[in-house]
Amino acid sequence: MTQNSVKMFRNTLSKLVGDTFPTLKRRWRRRLRLTPAGWERFYAETQDPFGIDGNPYEQGKFEHMMEALDGRRYGHALEVGCSIGSFTEMLAPACDDLLAIDISQVAGDRTRARLADKPWVKVERRTVPEELPKGPFDLVVCADVLYYLSPNELPAAVRRLARSVSSGGTFLALHYLGDGGGLMGGAEVHTLLPQLLDGFRLVRSERRTGIGPHGSGYQLDRYDRPLDPTEGHSSGD
Ligand SMILES: C[S@@+](CC[C@H](N)C(=O)[O-])C[C@H]1O[C@@H](n2cnc3c(N)ncnc32)[C@H](O)[C@@H]1O
Repeated sequence: MTQNSVKMFRNTLSKLVGDTFPTLKRRWRRRLRLTPAGWERFYAETQDPFGIDGNPYEQGKFEHMMEALDGRRYGHALEVGCSIGSFTEMLAPACDDLLAIDISQVAGDRTRARLADKPWVKVERRTVPEELPKGPFDLVVCADVLYYLSPNELPAAVRRLARSVSSGGTFLALHYLGDGGGLMGGAEVHTLLPQLLDGFRLVRSERRTGIGPHGSGYQLDRYDRPLDPTEGHSSGD
């Protein structure tokens, strides 16, 4: 079998399984791990595989995320799953330092090149949950990324991210509610967040429907860790 015919076989199988047994397709995908090598191949094939740049839906999503931060300034911020840096570029001016991470080296390289004139932005190839940075962070952003973790990995990953948020800091999550090819659904991720972000306060929760691929829309939730009067906090506001 040539590489192309293997690809065609996989695509056809995936389509058949999905069309006939949609639930089975999700279960079948859950058995697979989206590997760093798989993501690397994905980025090697196309400059912007998710078609983020110049896409009005994505632009609107990023503007909504910025608006949800209420114009606050952040000391140390972390963006998980930065892809080619489209949101990184928008977030950077609001941070004193920003660490953007992605499982793909190629994606990270594109982000680094794009943000080269902003020396306070650092880009690292890191796989969540194995290679989560330590923190503390005044802001953690997870947009369209947590559903690529398996249901087994997600709870520990979010709890670790939560522990890295400083007193008075923010955890911002946004996920597409249609089938984005992940191991979990966006709604499922956001349903689990309240129990995983123990001690945080939900300050914004907004669902936008009728937009994006298939009009499935997205869910945005902002959780803040209440200020601990015994701790200093380094956020800039
Ligand atoms: C759909 S893109 C979202 C990009 C951007 N956050 C946005 O909202 O437009 C998902 C990104 O997450 C990265 N990613 C997927 N699984 C990851 C993991 N386990 N650890 C770190 N990054 C991951 C992918 O490489 C990809 O760049």
